[in-house]
Amino acid sequence: MTHALPPAPTSSIDWDSLGFKWVDTNGHVKYIFKDGKWDQGEFVRDSYIKMHVCAPCLNYGQECFEGIKAFRCKDGQIRIFRPDANAKRMIYSAELACMAPVPEALFIEACERAVANNLEFVPPYGSGGALYLRPLLLGTGPEIGLYPAPEFTFIVSVIPVGNFYKGGVSPVDCLVVDSFDRAAPLGTGAAKLGGNYAPVLRHSSDAKARGYPITLHLDSKTHTNIDEFSTSNFVAITSSTETTTFCAPESPSILNSVTKQSLVQLAKSFGWAVENRVIPFTEVLDNRFEEIAACGTAAVITPVKSIERQGVKTLIGDSKSQAAIGPGFLRLFTAMRGIQNGDLEDPYGWMQPA
Ligand code: PLP
Ligand code: COI
Repeated sequence: MTHALPPAPTSSIDWDSLGFKWVDTNGHVKYIFKDGKWDQGEFVRDSYIKMHVCAPCLNYGQECFEGIKAFRCKDGQIRIFRPDANAKRMIYSAELACMAPVPEALFIEACERAVANNLEFVPPYGSGGALYLRPLLLGTGPEIGLYPAPEFTFIVSVIPVGNFYKGGVSPVDCLVVDSFDRAAPLGTGAAKLGGNYAPVLRHSSDAKARGYPITLHLDSKTHTNIDEFSTSNFVAITSSTETTTFCAPESPSILNSVTKQSLVQLAKSFGWAVENRVIPFTEVLDNRFEEIAACGTAAVITPVKSIERQGVKTLIGDSKSQAAIGPGFLRLFTAMRGIQNGDLEDPYGWMQPA
């Protein structure tokens, strides 16, 4: 079905200088869960929300969130990348934090409504930018005891974004965080709870100040195996004369990245081998990977050129892949962006009309 073309991108934004920071838009959508059911929701022309001071999200961190992107495609239409996958993950996070889950259909409807009311904020086709959607589920209503909230608020706000890390897809230096464990062995590392992020801030901010834009966490129990970056999944590529292998760590404590799941499908479509397995950190020290990257909705595919742990810096790959994205991740990035921009066919049905 062909739809009328959405409004053009607003001229009030300099699309070439977008980073990953707040930009005012028309507003957000908001739904309330009360007396056992979700309401019809509303579009709110405000960037602020009002809530009770005793809301459990404020006092006890009873909240979870998601990150999704919408793109202005080659045919002029706007589409959202895999909101169904994020809906499922938010249900998982909500259950871990004892929150009313947002049904998948309502989650997708909310994303569509948020985009539909902000069409002029979707960056131009091919600009490299996207409209970032931030679904947020909050335990609201007054409850000062340690009990689940009496009410829940589900919000989807949007922000036009460009690159997450300064320098775009230029390779970055990484620091391993050894003095702090992000996710306890039987903890909440696989859920997208705000509480997983606040304690990392001190370490990631220190690392940034020391020149490492990205931080890596090892498994909390033994500090021997790779878990994930503070903001994204760890992915790596090895090649032999026979085959290229896409590797990703298997761990109960990492977020099941929608980007990583998509890269796995693309890697398989290229005929590459895919290894989802425990990855000892020694494999980095032994230079087992020609390419390493951080992948995520915000990070997209950010190549990693070095990883430093306890004063030992390991350069990844060769001087070429340390200077620019390597050939393996470039192929994956091109395929992924091609589907997101509508330059390539979408055989997996990833792109949902907004
Ligand atoms: N891991 C962490 C800790 C994240 O915050 C993110 C970002 O969402 C990811 C991985 C990547 O997940 P996704 O590709 O679904 O955005
Ligand atoms: C995302 O990639 O969507 C995230 O939520 C990462 C966040 C730390 C910015």
